[in-house]
Amino acid sequence: MSQQQSAAPAPTPTTDSAVATVARRRDWWRDAVIYQVYPRSFADSNGDGMGDLEGIRSRLPYLRDLGVDAVWLSPFYASPQADAGYDVADYRAVDPMFGTLLDADALIRDAHALGLRIIVDLVPNHSSDQHEWFKRALAEGPGSPLRERYHFRPGKGENGELPPNDWESIFGGPAWTRVTEPDGTPGEWYLHLFAPEQPDFNWEHPAVGDEFRSILRFWLDMGVDGFRIDVAHGMVKAEGLPDLGSHDEMRLLGNDVTPFFDQDGVHDIYRQWRLILDEYSDAMGPEGPSAEGRGRETGGRIFVAEAWTPTVERTANYVRPDELHQAFNFQYLATHWDAAELRAVVDRTLDSMRPVGAPATWVLSNHDVTRHATRFANPAGLGTQIRKAGDRELGLRRARAATLLMLALPGSAYVYQGEELGLPDVVDLPDEVRQDPAYFRGAGQDGFRDGCRVPIPWTREGSSHGFGDGGSWLPQPEGWGELSVEAQTGVPGSTLEMYRSALALRREQADLGAGDAVEWLTAPEGVLAFRRGDFVCVANTTGAPVTVPAYGRVLITSGEVEETGGEAVVAADTTVWWTTA
Ligand code: NOJ
Repeated sequence: MSQQQSAAPAPTPTTDSAVATVARRRDWWRDAVIYQVYPRSFADSNGDGMGDLEGIRSRLPYLRDLGVDAVWLSPFYASPQADAGYDVADYRAVDPMFGTLLDADALIRDAHALGLRIIVDLVPNHSSDQHEWFKRALAEGPGSPLRERYHFRPGKGENGELPPNDWESIFGGPAWTRVTEPDGTPGEWYLHLFAPEQPDFNWEHPAVGDEFRSILRFWLDMGVDGFRIDVAHGMVKAEGLPDLGSHDEMRLLGNDVTPFFDQDGVHDIYRQWRLILDEYSDAMGPEGPSAEGRGRETGGRIFVAEAWTPTVERTANYVRPDELHQAFNFQYLATHWDAAELRAVVDRTLDSMRPVGAPATWVLSNHDVTRHATRFANPAGLGTQIRKAGDRELGLRRARAATLLMLALPGSAYVYQGEELGLPDVVDLPDEVRQDPAYFRGAGQDGFRDGCRVPIPWTREGSSHGFGDGGSWLPQPEGWGELSVEAQTGVPGSTLEMYRSALALRREQADLGAGDAVEWLTAPEGVLAFRRGDFVCVANTTGAPVTVPAYGRVLITSGEVEETGGEAVVAADTTVWWTTA
C-alpha cells in the first residue's frame, strides 16, 4: 500500500532541503519494529537461573517468526550488577554470567543470518565503581588525574561534611557520596545521578570522549547494527554544577528542567558519534533484508536515545539529521488510555519529528516501567510505576488495543519482551527477592522495576516454564504457564498470535511504518479513527461498544467487532484495522 503516502495530508513544508531528502528515503530503521531483550530474563542456557547470550541465540528463530526487524539487548557487559548491568566495569567484555565475547559474536552472526539486526546498549553517563578508572581514582587519592574523569569535589561545611550541591539521586538519597581517602580520612565527594555504585563520568574531560569513541568502534567492528544510548540526556552537566533549588518531585521518568539533564552540550557528542557510525557499512551487507528496493541514507547502523526530556519538541533535538536516528517517545508511553490524550500526543509527536526528518519512535513498555497491561488495569494518573494488579482482564484488553494502535502509526515501534504474551507486572514479589537498587534507596524512583523483569514463560510446565533448567532469578508467579509461548502458539485470538499477525500485516500488506502523517476521521467521543491511504484504524478507548462505519474488510482486531448493514460495532477497549482496498 505504498500509495498511502500520497493519500495522507501533505507534510508540513520544511525549509531544510537536506531534511526533506532524508525523509523521502527509506532505511530499515525508519519503520522497524525492534524487540527489547532483557538478557537476565529471556532464556537461560546453562541452568544457573540467569538468562544468557546462548539462551538468546537459541531463541532467535522465535523472534524471526514473531516478525520483528531487530533486537535491542540491555547490557550484558562485565558488571558487578549493582543496577542489573547498567553499572559497567568493562565496556569491551561480556560478563561471565551472560557468556563470552565469542558468544556475542555468534549471537550477532546468527541474528544476521536470520535477517535480524542487533542493537546493543551503551552506558556513557556513568561507569561502575568497579571500573578500572574509578578504582584507581579512589586509590590514588585527591589530586589523581583519574579523579578528573569523574566529578570529584570537596564537600561543603566546616569539615567538608556536606555534599557539594543539592542534587538527589534518581534512585533516592543524595547524588553524592563521600569517599574514604587512602589515608583513612573522610575526603572528597563524587557525583552519581543513579546508585553510588554508578559514578558519573565527567564528559568535559577529553579522555572520556576518546574512550567512548573507541568503545563505539569496538562494537561496530563486532558487527552490531546500532546502539541504544542509556541516559542520553544526562552526560553533560550545567557549568559549575549549580544547585537545583526548588523543583517538582525529581524522577527519572519526570519532566523537570534540571542542570543535569537535557543540556545543549550533549548534542555536540552525538554529532561526533554520528560521523563515526556513518563511516561503517551495513553490518548485514548491501543486500540486507530491509534494504530491498529502497534508497539508503547511511550504512544502516543506528543510534536510539533514551532521553527523558520535558517535551517531544526537546526530544526532536536528539534526532536532527546529523545526530541520532531515533529517540524513544516516552510522552506516548506515559499517556493514559484516553482518545483525546492519545490523539494529542500522536499529533505533537508527528509534528515535532517531521521538521527534523526523523521517524516517530513509539513504545509502550520497557524494563523500567510497569508493563502496559498492568498500567491500563489501574485507574489513570498513577504514573508509570504501579504496584497494584488492578483489573487484569481490563488491562489486557486495553493493552492489546493500545498495541494495535501503536503498530498502526507511522514510524518505528519497540516491543518489550513478554508484552507479546500479554504479561502483567508481577506486583507481589516478596521483598527479599527484589534487586532494583531504587527499592533499597528510599525510592526516589518508586523502586518496583523488578515486577516487569520476571523471566518470561516459554512452556506451560517445567521448573521455570522453559526459561531454563535451574529456576529463575526472580520467581515466576502462579498462572505464568498459561501465558507461555507454548500455550498461546497457534491459538486464534491469543495475544501472541495477534502480535504475529499484526507485525506481518504491518510489514507485508499495509506498510504502516511508512510516512509521517495520519488523516484523522470523525469519530464518536472516546474513539480515535484515522486513515492512511486505503488503511483505516479505529481505537475505542471507552468502556462501552461504539458504532462506526464499516470501513471495508477487517484486517485484524484486538477484540470483538460486529458488522451489520454498513456499520460496525466495536467492543469496549478495542482497536480494529480495516482495508478499504
Ligand atoms: C536507564 C536504564 O534503562 C535503567 O534501567 C538504569 O537504571 C538507568 N538508566 C541508569 O543506567
